[in-house]
Amino acid sequence: MKKQKNTLGVVGLGYVGLPLAVEAAAKGYTVIGVDINTELLKTIDARRSPYANDARFAAAIKATPKDQFTTTTDYAALEEADTVVICVPTPTEHNVPDLGLVELAAANVAQHLQKGQLIVLESTVNPGVTRDAVLPILERTSGFAVGKDFFLAHCPERIDPGNPKYYVGNLNRVVGGITPACTKKALAFYTALIDAQIIPLGSTEEAEFVKSWENTQRNVMIAMANSAAIICDGVGMDIERVQKGLQSKVDQFGLSLAQPGIGPGGHCIPEDIHYIIKRARESGIDTRFLDDASELNDRMPKYAVLRLSRLAKEHGEELRNIRVALLGLAYKPDISDTRKSAAIEAGYMLRRYAGSLVAYDPYIDDPTLVPFTISSSLDKALETADAVFVATAHSQFARRLTPAFLKKHGIRYVLDGRNVLNKSAIERAGIAYRGIGR
Ligand SMILES: NC(=O)c1ccc[n+]([C@@H]2O[C@H](COP(=O)([O-])OP(=O)(O)OC[C@H]3O[C@@H](n4cnc5c(N)ncnc54)[C@H](O)[C@@H]3O)[C@@H](O)[C@H]2O)c1
Repeated sequence: MKKQKNTLGVVGLGYVGLPLAVEAAAKGYTVIGVDINTELLKTIDARRSPYANDARFAAAIKATPKDQFTTTTDYAALEEADTVVICVPTPTEHNVPDLGLVELAAANVAQHLQKGQLIVLESTVNPGVTRDAVLPILERTSGFAVGKDFFLAHCPERIDPGNPKYYVGNLNRVVGGITPACTKKALAFYTALIDAQIIPLGSTEEAEFVKSWENTQRNVMIAMANSAAIICDGVGMDIERVQKGLQSKVDQFGLSLAQPGIGPGGHCIPEDIHYIIKRARESGIDTRFLDDASELNDRMPKYAVLRLSRLAKEHGEELRNIRVALLGLAYKPDISDTRKSAAIEAGYMLRRYAGSLVAYDPYIDDPTLVPFTISSSLDKALETADAVFVATAHSQFARRLTPAFLKKHGIRYVLDGRNVLNKSAIERAGIAYRGIGR
């Protein structure tokens, strides 16, 4: 088949692949997107954004000319591409990374591999996967040699969905190739596409490690914040004041602080630590420190539910008789993504132990997407509730959950799982309040 110049193939058009495809099209590349989800392809072909609350991306996809970005389920279309980027999911199942989709995508790409093509894995993986899992599939199926006939690199994505400042087009990246020629090719590709620093590393493993480690650091920092909050609760200090004190050091020394809460969620922070743990354990390295951090964060939804239960008890009531409104289901503020959300974990526990449970999330209106009864508005959610459990720091909650609003709905208990409400004002209104560490 005749190859065109500057044609990019993107495999997997999710949170990572779709913004990349749209950005490349805007920069003049011809883009071929491959995905197995035909409903998603229809949405993309109609130039509708699948993401709520991301106006920048909605405008970008709308402005993408039809012939500049086409979609298909057929991997054969990738024969036209100069570069193919793989962005399929890499979930963990019971804390074990599942590479099935990466291997499947690699096998399909391998069947249509062309001489001179650059293949990049962008999915987050444990160190070693590009070389030990993807490379053998590509070489065996094609009979080509890496670094000579084709090029293979890892360039992990750092996209932060909903972030108004950083998006795929301006995020610093790291790249590592299987051979120096692979690194060079990948560096040239990303330097042309992205307006930010592209840092070449010594190997695919180093690039894989950087991505998993930055999210591991975040996980550990959140665990430290949660640990401090638990100590504050136990000895009667207020984490908000403690954090204010800690911040004064951070301001001068440039370190950073995480916030305590019911735990991290999403596709990255709770999962990537397990990529590092897996690889370290394979080499006989002690991972107890990381295991403990991850476990502490995983326990936070239960910790928060127990705090609500104790609060009710202090007022002579039992959680089993309390009607709870769970506010927020997404894993972070002002987006609709519920993957690995600590809010969902808390919801399961509340459904089991509370008198009744109704959930509300301003970004989620499809009841089939979540395992709880969903309310259509904040007012409706509070109408029949005795307690609110703030599970996601959506900005409208801090704005709307005023003491007067809570009083109007007869709320007696507040469990602020993200420490976003005004504790003293709520208590002054006669409503019992607990945060995480305050
Ligand atoms: N979501 C994030 O914020 C984020 C940030 C950085 C890195 N990552 C990493 O990027 C990778 C992709 O994550 P995502 O959030 O974009 O996932 P996603 O679930 O949003 O999208 C993945 C897409 O791949 C498609 N797909 C699955 N198997 C396929 C196959 N065999 N062939 C073609 N398409 C296939 C799915 O239909 C889906 O549309 C993961 O490794 C993730 O850890 C995600």
